Amino acid sequence: MKYLFILGRNVELSKAEVFSYFEREENKILSSELIKNGLLLELERPIEKKVVDVFGGVISIGKVISSGDENELIKKLDNETLYFGESNKLNYIIWNFSEKYEIFQEYLKSRFKKEKLKATFKHLTGNIHLQNGEIVSIPSSKLINEEYFVYGNNEVYFGKIIQICDYTSLEERDMNKPVRRESLAISPRLAKILINLSKVKKGETLLDPFCGVGTILSEALLQKIKVMGIDKDKDAVTGAKQNLEWFGFQKEDYTLFNSDSRKAEIGLVSGIATEPDLGDTLKKIPTKNKAKQTISNFEKLIVEVIKNLKEKISGRIAFTSPNIRIGKKRIHLNLENVLNETGYVLKYEIPEFRENQIVGRMIYVLEK
Ligand SMILES: C[S@@+](CC[C@H](N)C(=O)[O-])C[C@H]1O[C@@H](n2cnc3c(N)ncnc32)[C@H](O)[C@@H]1O
Repeated sequence: MKYLFILGRNVELSKAEVFSYFEREENKILSSELIKNGLLLELERPIEKKVVDVFGGVISIGKVISSGDENELIKKLDNETLYFGESNKLNYIIWNFSEKYEIFQEYLKSRFKKEKLKATFKHLTGNIHLQNGEIVSIPSSKLINEEYFVYGNNEVYFGKIIQICDYTSLEERDMNKPVRRESLAISPRLAKILINLSKVKKGETLLDPFCGVGTILSEALLQKIKVMGIDKDKDAVTGAKQNLEWFGFQKEDYTLFNSDSRKAEIGLVSGIATEPDLGDTLKKIPTKNKAKQTISNFEKLIVEVIKNLKEKISGRIAFTSPNIRIGKKRIHLNLENVLNETGYVLKYEIPEFRENQIVGRMIYVLEK
């Protein structure tokens, strides 16, 4: 089974998220290919319905209908149903990951004409700026009935989008929570990415030792993962409790502690996903010394927390850390020290920031 995962703006991070998810689900990736933000995967088993909602960094998922060189592929497509809708009127788009795009644009046009459908091709009028500087086209109209894709240049893949991320309800859910802390909160999308990177499964327990008002906790509980949250700020723990109650999660599926994670005593957990304090939110570029001080404080904190909790964690630790702009460069943690002090090994080290952001993030995933 071949699928296309259309990834969000941080392609490296989204790819790590998708790979971690399928490792966790023990659905083997038999082959993979990346063109721009299009990740083509051959999987051992079919994907689950609505799996797109589990990911923080996936825009849409498509299924390959057929593949081959362009002539072979067109012959094969002649024998496939491409439109299953009831109405004979439709708007459609084609995602472009191929130099052969125009050939398939023409093919669909004549194919729909032959089938006597009033099909209108819509251009991809939106775009996203990927973190690596590339710009890719995306659909912007909501009035689209079908989305197709063309992928690859020698072996060309043609397929149809089968799952689309519902950003509107994700954002609505976040906005409607009873307790929000704009400046400290992590986005639900990044929370999902960290959870998937941690590889903690349904039924296992995930720990967030800097839980704040509980964004990571609630996103994990939505995936039927049990959670434990620790925060040294009493108000944050009260806020997290209110938020988790608002979602209506079963009380036996979560535990919250008002404690300092450098000293807290906890039971066994499967992994960590967390965003510790990244230091002050800066409006001006800091001096090199100030940035270094923030990073050194962070390093001390994360090392103490990992050393304290290490014996209780069986799996991965996924965490964010400050990535601070000084002049044209950015500085971040020297992970060697963290690894030496804690005995963990590095699985991923991925930057995540917007161009003008002064305090961005580095995302680390550690394994024992
Ligand atoms: C960036 S916030 C976490 C935000 C959280 N992900 C959310 O969405 O609400 C960091 C949190 O770590 C807590 N914190 C800082 N040092 C701590 C420590 N040593 N032990 C436990 N919590 C700590 C702070 O009180 C703060 O609520």
